[in-house]
Amino acid sequence: MENKKYYVTTPIYYPSANFHIGHCYTTVIADSLARFKKLQGYDTFFLTGSDEHGLKIQKKAEEAGVTPQEYVDKIISDAKDLWKSLDIEYDRFIRTTDPDHVETVQKIFKKLYDQGDIYKGEYKGLYCTPCESFWTETQLVDGKCPDCGREVNEVSEEAYFFKLSKYQDRLVDYIENHPEFIQPVSRKNEMLNNFIKPGLEDLCVSRTSFTWGIPVTFDEKHVVYVWMDALSNYISALGYLSDDDSKFKKYWPADLHIVGKEIVRFHTIIWPIMLMALDLPLPHQVFGHGWLVINGGKISKSLGNYRDPREYVKEYGVDAIRYYLLREVPFGNDGQFSEELLISRYNTDLANTVGNLVNRTLSMLTKYFDGVISKGSETTEFDEDLINTVTSTKFKVEDYMEKLQIPESLDSIFEIFRRANKYIDETTPWILAKEDKNEKLKTVLYNLLESIRIGAILLKPYLPNTSEEIIRQINTKEIDYSKTDEFGLLEENIHINDFKPIFMRIDNKNESK
Ligand code: ME8
Ligand code: MG
Repeated sequence: MENKKYYVTTPIYYPSANFHIGHCYTTVIADSLARFKKLQGYDTFFLTGSDEHGLKIQKKAEEAGVTPQEYVDKIISDAKDLWKSLDIEYDRFIRTTDPDHVETVQKIFKKLYDQGDIYKGEYKGLYCTPCESFWTETQLVDGKCPDCGREVNEVSEEAYFFKLSKYQDRLVDYIENHPEFIQPVSRKNEMLNNFIKPGLEDLCVSRTSFTWGIPVTFDEKHVVYVWMDALSNYISALGYLSDDDSKFKKYWPADLHIVGKEIVRFHTIIWPIMLMALDLPLPHQVFGHGWLVINGGKISKSLGNYRDPREYVKEYGVDAIRYYLLREVPFGNDGQFSEELLISRYNTDLANTVGNLVNRTLSMLTKYFDGVISKGSETTEFDEDLINTVTSTKFKVEDYMEKLQIPESLDSIFEIFRRANKYIDETTPWILAKEDKNEKLKTVLYNLLESIRIGAILLKPYLPNTSEEIIRQINTKEIDYSKTDEFGLLEENIHINDFKPIFMRIDNKNESK
């Protein structure tokens, strides 16, 4: 186990608009996966970043009266702030404007050109001069530019092309022989049948109509096509073709690229073919997830249907947001986002199930035993079932995480907390106290705290703050993940720390305002 590695990536985001809760969805999932693998002892690398080149950014910067670099710098500093507020622990935030990335992309382009996989040709298309944009027939709206509504002209520009067609058969073979490569399986079939098998055309991979991009070193009026630039981030971030490629040697191929469903196509056609052409192994898996939608529609800045995610974090707390994103949407499907749903999840699961359990248990320990933990000499008939639920959870979580069933894995941890609440109802500690059954009462409180301790350790990858706060309140030093299938390791004779409810019900909060 010690030397196993895990490399997980998110897409690199366009800084053309501020990031929204949909972007947080992918990033929180990748973060939890990376943290989970780390707990399991994997040497983990988690990459995220930003995709900063292209005509769109150039235009936005012009509108704002700043240079493209100034324009992206501001947005990226906000993005990093957002990731910090969400407790995202990436190993690198790569920017496609980073000099090492630029250099690697230039070397990749040159290498593919030198070996004949990239060649010079002519790009024919419909061009909107005011917008400086090429369009295809089908993209036009009423025969006019879809952006500004003006006339387009047929033009051609000199461009470089990448020989996708040459690799088509190899790609089909690969996908068919590696069923885990494209997930969920519905996406795999869609790619094969709708995109690859009908025939791949060579891809135009350079532009001369704008300058905000990575220059082709041997033909400087060309900049590299944004997708070729962007996809390379997954290997440039590790130092591929640089003086120090030790990370590349250690972590490549990626174990998992998590991407939204609309960009699976780029990750399962262009990207694997680039890698084949570079004679590199392909990533183990590309997982295409669904979208978070608001009232059935995609979240979008122009619709004005979302708030800055940092406002949600301020209002509800970081783990309320993480919990919602991880728990609410079956991975692979679309899922609703609304503040009503967020509040309802928060109240039932976080405030009632976990928050109450921890608070009741610590309150009882304080009341009955001055806050000092000890094992009783008598048992109850309900202990065994509780203990079985708790000690089997680690294996359930591992099994679900292996299958990327993230809501299910999180829910199996909550089963511990639900079972513990039931144990309180079954054992009625207040009656044990009234009847002076102190040895049983100690056992009950010990078992509750031990269940909470194990649940808290298992929660760490998903809700790191909550996990740490529970551990702090219990005041335990036993926080070894590998032993979460052992019941009874919680130390005796420790005094719990000061405590307060970890999650206040949200209606209560509003009442007290
Ligand atoms: O596509 N719900 O960047 P991007 C869930 N730069 N996910 C969402 C979402 C939503 N409402 N909205 C967006 C790009 N996303 C390229 C990637 S990778 C080499 C280059 C997801 O900022 C979207 O599905 O448009 C995608 O996976 C990611 O955010 C980045 O989108
Ligand atoms: Mg997009």
